[in-house]
Amino acid sequence: MTAQIAHISLPEITIPPHPSWPELIPARREELRRDIKKLLKERDAALVAHYYTSGDIQELAEETGGCVADSLEMARFAAAHPATTLVVAGVRFMGETSKILNSEKTVLMPEPTATCSLDEYCPANLFAAFCDRHPDHTVVVYANTSAAVKARADWMVTSGVALPIIRHLAEKGQKIIWGPDKHLGLYVAERAGAEMLLWPGACVVHDEFRGAAMQRMRAAHPKAAVLAHPESPAEVVTQADVVGSTTALIAAARDLPNEEFIVATDAGIFHKMRRLAPHKTFIEAPAVGVGGDCQSCAHCPWMEMNSLTNLFTTLRDGKNAIEVAPELAAKARLPIERMLDFAKRMKG
Ligand code: 13P
Ligand code: SF4
Repeated sequence: MTAQIAHISLPEITIPPHPSWPELIPARREELRRDIKKLLKERDAALVAHYYTSGDIQELAEETGGCVADSLEMARFAAAHPATTLVVAGVRFMGETSKILNSEKTVLMPEPTATCSLDEYCPANLFAAFCDRHPDHTVVVYANTSAAVKARADWMVTSGVALPIIRHLAEKGQKIIWGPDKHLGLYVAERAGAEMLLWPGACVVHDEFRGAAMQRMRAAHPKAAVLAHPESPAEVVTQADVVGSTTALIAAARDLPNEEFIVATDAGIFHKMRRLAPHKTFIEAPAVGVGGDCQSCAHCPWMEMNSLTNLFTTLRDGKNAIEVAPELAAKARLPIERMLDFAKRMKG
């Protein structure tokens, strides 16, 4: 394989502070949960939540026939569900993907400004210019991108299907442009033996996990299995027993015989892991190192912008509708559908 990280200067991005949601007294929390359930019914709406959102939101999604999932399953669910409104609790690209796949549906988000560093580090005009310089390459983009970046791509992938899709393209002898996550790009290029040119973006949460600190933590917990999301740096991924999408990491937490796990991904995932394996111990992987400060510290500041309170006001007021211009949506839909078809064939 020849994977090369492109020399491109990325835009400055602003990482917001972690939102400080006030602690809800139990009676208010129950009231909000009840009102949200009622509004979901009244609006013929399904709640589609990511594993990094709060436990309250994840439980509501499950209790009301919605879904809590990784980004692949969120897209699949949105494409198949008959509800006329989808409420997407996650980050902007997840709401946009739902809208692109369901132009006739209303797609609402509790906080539509909740973005993702990968998306922010990959402006559509810079990415298009990069692609234009390499016209003989197949363009594969990660789901964590804007509709405009997807519209420039041949394929979209999520972490759940990135490796088999890149393998498939490499077997056909195709050279690949990959954006925007360099860590995931390096991971799949190496395993698929693919020739890839990588956009130099990273996730501000996973990028902070550190290999040396992980080694020390493993030494302190010799029986622990290490689970890592492939957005983490290679120095962490190479120490992992299981590398995969959030769904794959949750399945490993449930199925492996270990009693202890060191987990290199957003700590929101612990809610589901603890529900499925209440007797096991889950430890946050070390972010940055001794003497260094983490900024995101295993908590995505944008995912944390979703709360019971803004979920309630969004549904009550029918606000924060996600719009994607029809012409753009038509272009962005092609690489998403290509991925969904591939994933369906793979499952079959
Ligand atoms: P998954 O598709 O594995 O859930 O990942 C989405 C994401 O944003 C991870 O940071
Ligand atoms: Fe984006 Fe990272 Fe947050 Fe996932 S955890 S949404 S990749 S910033």
